[in-house]
Amino acid sequence: MPIFLDTGNIKEIEKYLKMGIIRGVTTNPSILLKDGVTGGMKGVRARSVEIARLIDPLPLSVEVTTNDPLQMRLQAQELAAMAANIIVKITIHGPIGELENLEVIHELEGERNIRVNATAMMSAQQCLLAAMAGATYVSLFGGRIANMGYNPCEEITRLRKVLDNFNLKAKIIIGSTREVLNIIEWLGAGAHFVTVVPNLLEGMIVHPYSKETVRMFLADAAKIETQLEADHSFPTEKRNDNKGEVLISHSKQKPVIQEHKAQV
Ligand code: E4P
Repeated sequence: MPIFLDTGNIKEIEKYLKMGIIRGVTTNPSILLKDGVTGGMKGVRARSVEIARLIDPLPLSVEVTTNDPLQMRLQAQELAAMAANIIVKITIHGPIGELENLEVIHELEGERNIRVNATAMMSAQQCLLAAMAGATYVSLFGGRIANMGYNPCEEITRLRKVLDNFNLKAKIIIGSTREVLNIIEWLGAGAHFVTVVPNLLEGMIVHPYSKETVRMFLADAAKIETQLEADHSFPTEKRNDNKGEVLISHSKQKPVIQEHKAQV
């Protein structure tokens, strides 16, 4: 099932959950900051538990807030212990290219039974290595890839092919959505999931021509209603009200005033 919501906003999650069109939620520290989370790891934990309970049993991805290998391991265990549907996000490497992250991913998945979403990846080859380390999900950032001048669809197709060819369990999440078109395009290229920001999801649903069509249907439905009420097979009678003589037709529901005769 292909759509995750990329947000930390409870109201947005509730809205789309009720529609039955999302199959999980992804967050990262930047998203949580934008969505009002404060108070360090305590704040991250509180919002994460709230979301995890709300969407249970759908998966919620929560990122560690450190790149220290020991702290990453501790935070990962703490986050995973909070709810069974929490997936821990670990970046592919550190801010200056530190390589310990893959080791952490391998250990969490292999020895601690913690599901990992390897994140912040810009190429199929990064994702392949994260998949080989054991990650359950590999997150490719489509919008950022396009911003660098590369075609995200090519990376997705290439990645999907090697994951399938070598029977690697990792599922591709493509994130960093920028345009409504990204969603269908990236899924078509082979992503297992696309994680979508809420305003783009609304853009997928609402179409100006659909609005116009619905307006037409409703206007014609109202005309049918009027014609039904005006049907002279219903008994009619003339009465006087304060504006003068009126013709009343008695439908099943209620008497309907059809017309006023001009006052003399
Ligand atoms: C997904 O998991 C990512 O955290 C997210 O889509 C990144 O998007 P950005 O490029 O808008 O920061």
